[in-house]
Amino acid sequence: MNHFLNTQDCTRAELDALLAHAAELKRSKFGDQLKGKSIALVFFNPSLRTRTSFELGAQQLGGTAIVLAPGKDAWPIEFEVGSVMDGEAEEHIAEVARVLSRYVDLIGVRAFPKFVDWQVDREDRVLKGFAKYSTVPVINLETITHPCQELAHALALQEHFGTSDLRGKKYVLTWTYHPKPLNTVVANSALTIATRLGLDVTLLCPTPDYVLDERYMGWAAQNVAESGGSLRISHDIEDAYRGADVVYAKSWGALPYFGNWAPEKPIRDAHRHFIVDEAKMALTNNAVFSHCLPLRRNIKATDGVMDSPACIAIEEAENRLHVQKAIMAALVRGR
Ligand code: CP
Repeated sequence: MNHFLNTQDCTRAELDALLAHAAELKRSKFGDQLKGKSIALVFFNPSLRTRTSFELGAQQLGGTAIVLAPGKDAWPIEFEVGSVMDGEAEEHIAEVARVLSRYVDLIGVRAFPKFVDWQVDREDRVLKGFAKYSTVPVINLETITHPCQELAHALALQEHFGTSDLRGKKYVLTWTYHPKPLNTVVANSALTIATRLGLDVTLLCPTPDYVLDERYMGWAAQNVAESGGSLRISHDIEDAYRGADVVYAKSWGALPYFGNWAPEKPIRDAHRHFIVDEAKMALTNNAVFSHCLPLRRNIKATDGVMDSPACIAIEEAENRLHVQKAIMAALVRGR
């Protein structure tokens, strides 16, 4: 692996090796795999889990992490090639990425969609800019996908079912209500990793407008063909939940309304009943429930579900630490 930008860029053997190493690192907290090494963590957006787990993870393996917030404690950055820089940005990614590469061994980048034009956001310009100009490996800390979350989720499922072979498990990725239109990042990622691992996936969402971008639907179709899993879209809650082994929840705004959210709001408001509750979970095959967090209780999932033994969201969050240590160690080893 040169960078860790998307799980789809990794071979299945690389993903399996990362997950196996993460399980080992979970058993032995400290190591020297990053001794003398450093990572710059560039955050354009807030974080609780990603920042804490990367900083601690680097430290626990003997390395150093430096957190930067461009526009706050670091200079605002320009990403447009050929731009006449007469706006807010004080320096160009061409310099930023190359300078950081002289200081550190790894660069992590968090840059959420800007929510104005999906055709622009789907180009993932910030992450690609870092990957283009950096001479050290770049890690996606969540841009338009969240590959670290994918691995943490996969590890939590493997732990729950007691096997690394998840093929044949019935997996429901359910849309949930949220008062704001959220990005599709974690939904893209859940669809990608669940199909990659050969699960039988149902994408449950209110209407066809909530189906994900064709890139991720295409990755899922390709993964299903290779892994032997399956993928279907449903708008029927009872049908989707019945017999499920895994329920994974996320809220997202419908892509056709991207940047023009006012007409989407009444549709979203009419589907508050997509909340994950005890009655829906009772339809499942004693399913496990998870979410990437942060989660608004009693909006996306009830207290009863979040506090039930079925909920593995905290395990998944803990696993961020272990999988990211495996990712950092693999990238440093690969140089
Ligand atoms: N799930 C996740 O990435 O959490 P943070 O936004 O708190 O980092």
